[in-house]
Amino acid sequence: MTALITGATGNIGRRLVNDLLRRGVGVRALSRDPARADLPVGVGVVEGSLGSVPPAAFDEVDSVFVFPAEEGIETFVDGAVSAGVSRFVVLSSLAVSGRNERDAGSASALHHRVIEDAVTSRTDDYTILRPGNLATNLLFWGFPIRSGYPVRIPYPDSSQVLLHEADVAAVAAIALTAAERVGQVVELTGPASLTKVEQLATISAAIGRDVPYVEISAEEFRAEMAQYMPADIVEMLLRYWSDTLTQPEAPLAAPLGITATPLSQWAIDHRGAFTD
Ligand SMILES: NC(=O)c1ccc[n+]([C@@H]2O[C@H](COP(=O)([O-])OP(=O)(O)OC[C@H]3O[C@@H](n4cnc5c(N)ncnc54)[C@H](OP(=O)(O)O)[C@@H]3O)[C@@H](O)[C@H]2O)c1
Repeated sequence: MTALITGATGNIGRRLVNDLLRRGVGVRALSRDPARADLPVGVGVVEGSLGSVPPAAFDEVDSVFVFPAEEGIETFVDGAVSAGVSRFVVLSSLAVSGRNERDAGSASALHHRVIEDAVTSRTDDYTILRPGNLATNLLFWGFPIRSGYPVRIPYPDSSQVLLHEADVAAVAAIALTAAERVGQVVELTGPASLTKVEQLATISAAIGRDVPYVEISAEEFRAEMAQYMPADIVEMLLRYWSDTLTQPEAPLAAPLGITATPLSQWAIDHRGAFTD
């Protein structure tokens, strides 16, 4: 069995590649910059982006993991379908499920809907993964924590569920390799709801020192983020946090027999991002 993994050099993709190798699956990886891909020996790295995959990259490929880049997604799926790929596992987002009113029309829902449609309009052989809030979002706190600055947090008592990227990779590996397709839509979240203060305390415990924070207003967050983040993403985040202040986010049951990883383990796995 051979799988073609797009986004293979990313947080989820690297873990997925390793999961598949452990399962004895042949792995081909797509990267825009193979010289810097740094993937394990035995992985065939193909240069390209979704819209520019060399046709030979699909030779003998049974399944593909689709990273959600809008540019080139239709060309990619057309190429894979023509080459006879019989399973598509697609990275989407829980925002598409519309579980919360705030998700309707959000930047994430709109973007990932385009990705899903590009696949579902071309094949029925798909499993769409809809992960919730990834704990990798907390890497944003890496710079102030490493530098000893207080972390500047709006809505510190809002409560969210954070998902280890390893769990997404584990579910993707199952979906790519199971004898029968595991379902057309798989939703997944982390195991528990934690306030931002608790999230910070979890990182503090992992690195063995207190991390101070200061509460900032939504307006201050908007102003500070203006140079780093598109405005629609900033608004999506503020809405998420203000909603989960009054109504803590609730976890979903973990799918496909996996056990969702606690944030304490994620913080240990990422200690290096928060220490010098
Ligand atoms: N943040 C959240 O809470 C959340 C929630 C639900 C879903 N998601 C989805 O999960 C994604 C993040 O996954 P991740 O952390 O594994 O990603 P990541 O670490 O940002 O890595 C993405 C990899 O994909 C490749 N890539 C990026 N843009 C590309 C493009 N336009 N065309 C082709 N390849 C491209 C890059 O590899 P090369 O440079 O080697 O080509 C990169 O290493 C988000 O983008 C979002 O769609 C996020």
